[in-house]
Amino acid sequence: MFYETAKNDHGLARPPFKSCVVPRPIGWLSTVSPEGVDNLAPYSQFTNLTFDPPYVLVSINRTPAGGRKDTAANIEATGEFVYNIVPWALRDAMNVTAAPFPPEVDEFEKAGLKKAPCRLVKPCRVADSPISLECRFVQTIVLPGDSKTGTVDIIIGKVVGVHIADEVLLPDGKIDMEKIRPLARMGYSDYTSAEHVFELAPSDRAGDAPGMARLGLEGATGQVP
Ligand SMILES: Cc1cc2nc3c(=O)[nH]c(=O)nc-3n(C[C@H](O)[C@H](O)[C@H](O)COP(=O)(O)O)c2cc1C
Repeated sequence: MFYETAKNDHGLARPPFKSCVVPRPIGWLSTVSPEGVDNLAPYSQFTNLTFDPPYVLVSINRTPAGGRKDTAANIEATGEFVYNIVPWALRDAMNVTAAPFPPEVDEFEKAGLKKAPCRLVKPCRVADSPISLECRFVQTIVLPGDSKTGTVDIIIGKVVGVHIADEVLLPDGKIDMEKIRPLARMGYSDYTSAEHVFELAPSDRAGDAPGMARLGLEGATGQVP
């Protein structure tokens, strides 16, 4: 089948687009409002952008009334946010935090989640999430939509601090992803969790020193020109 997005004539019972670029990692973003209310919400239009230095991006749709979601408003007002990975064990809590609670409601409390302090930024992190990234706001790009909710605030943040729980560090220095089972979106109400990790030997380019491709893939800063 083929359809043009401008016509949206896919003829399927369910809109397919959000299942076409998957699995999408979930950025479970914690922020704090200028009034000091902690906020937490999942965002799967989320990715890392680069590693030297590390930047991440989140694309936040507007509300049906055309306003900014709490996460976007808090990031722009305070200049800080925290990415928390969603492990399989916290899938139900993550889902609770997606409800459209008003800004004065603390989603950590609604989902029964423990908070842990950050080192360099004010928002707290999800204590039982094994990986958290402390981020500082860099810029927002507003992408106009075909509807109010279609409009997005694309927010870029610089990662200034990384927390990794000792329990998920393996003797070879890697992170034990099969232990975390990170959750990802598959479109619809469907999710997957990464449970099987396999390795492909990196292909070195002709002329490169042996191992350069591996360093590049791993994001070894200071060693890759
Ligand atoms: C797994 C998951 C992923 C989501 N991803 C996004 C997203 O990428 N962009 C977005 O605008 N909303 C996304 N949402 C919806 C927001 O989480 C929801 O609107 C939430 O209430 C926003 O909270 P906030 O106003 O506290 O920021 C997602 C929801 C779920 C359950």
